[in-house]
Amino acid sequence: MASCPYLNSSTMISKPKHPNASFCLHDFPNPQHLSSSLSFTASPIGTVKSARRRCRETNRRSSLILASTDKPREPLKIMISGAPASGKGTQCELITSKYDLVHIAAGDLLRAEVAAGSANGKQAKEYMEKGQLVPDEIVVMMVKDRLSQSDSTEKGWLLDGYPRSSSQATALQAFGFHPDLFILLEVPQEILVDRVVGRRLDPVTGRIYHLTYSPPETEEIAARLTQRFDDTEEKVKLRLQTHNQNVESVLSMFEEITVKVDGSLPKDVVFAKIDSALSNLINQKNATLAT
Ligand code: AP5
Repeated sequence: MASCPYLNSSTMISKPKHPNASFCLHDFPNPQHLSSSLSFTASPIGTVKSARRRCRETNRRSSLILASTDKPREPLKIMISGAPASGKGTQCELITSKYDLVHIAAGDLLRAEVAAGSANGKQAKEYMEKGQLVPDEIVVMMVKDRLSQSDSTEKGWLLDGYPRSSSQATALQAFGFHPDLFILLEVPQEILVDRVVGRRLDPVTGRIYHLTYSPPETEEIAARLTQRFDDTEEKVKLRLQTHNQNVESVLSMFEEITVKVDGSLPKDVVFAKIDSALSNLINQKNATLAT
């Protein structure tokens, strides 16, 4: 296997090249991954404040904090891709918690439009229910606008589930968005269906659960979990078909910066591989900037 500067030996790469509230990972993962079709129940301010305090304390102790010497000198630009339920959202929670990137999920942006009942949302839902790609006229500008916001520019971004076609990838490049790394999660099909059917979301924290692999911690959380409207066995098969039709054309455009990770492993193991690729990337980028 070819060696890549971003990878350790257990991570595969297709081709070597170059180099809400502030919730914490354990209690309150990234609220941006909320299924926006769900209602958001705000916690009382006191509770949120003490939760934040607990989070800060947890984070101080946590090994998931970047040492100042490991910080990127310029914002990271990362894409994560994979079949439905390959674990993109789960890994994004872990990545953003450590690297503090702005998580931009095309599916979340679309679900927010659906929940808002906008014209775009109504049109998007028709495609989402059929497991098809929502037309570029709706998605492309939505993602471009989010990427252009100041937090994305300043902190760096983690783009989840976009681009999903060569036309989306081309548009992104034309707008001047060039990723440093393209992460592809690879998971066998039979596992994906099981993951989709068992997935549940916490509308309060946005956290992603699985009834078997990542069950809720308390009865209270279990009682409020909800399911996405497209998380049925029938719909995931259609989503998979769409993914399989498009994945190669997208991959071919990012081949030289692609890191393929075995997403069927336990989520912490998957994260360790991604983490290793990201820290290698940061070292490379920092070294380049220092010269
Ligand atoms: P989107 O919301 O992006 O859905 P998706 O691609 O089908 O991906 P998912 O969100 O279902 O899964 P995931 O990979 O995030 O997995 P998760 O971490 O939750 O898109 C929805 C729809 O919007 C599309 O079908 C399309 O219509 C439209 N759309 C989106 N982007 C578009 C675009 N660019 N252009 C046009 N249309 C677009 O994990 C799943 C489950 O597995 C969870 O229960 C989790 O706990 C569990 N799990 C995760 N990792 C592990 C692990 N390592 N081991 C065991 N269990 C795990």
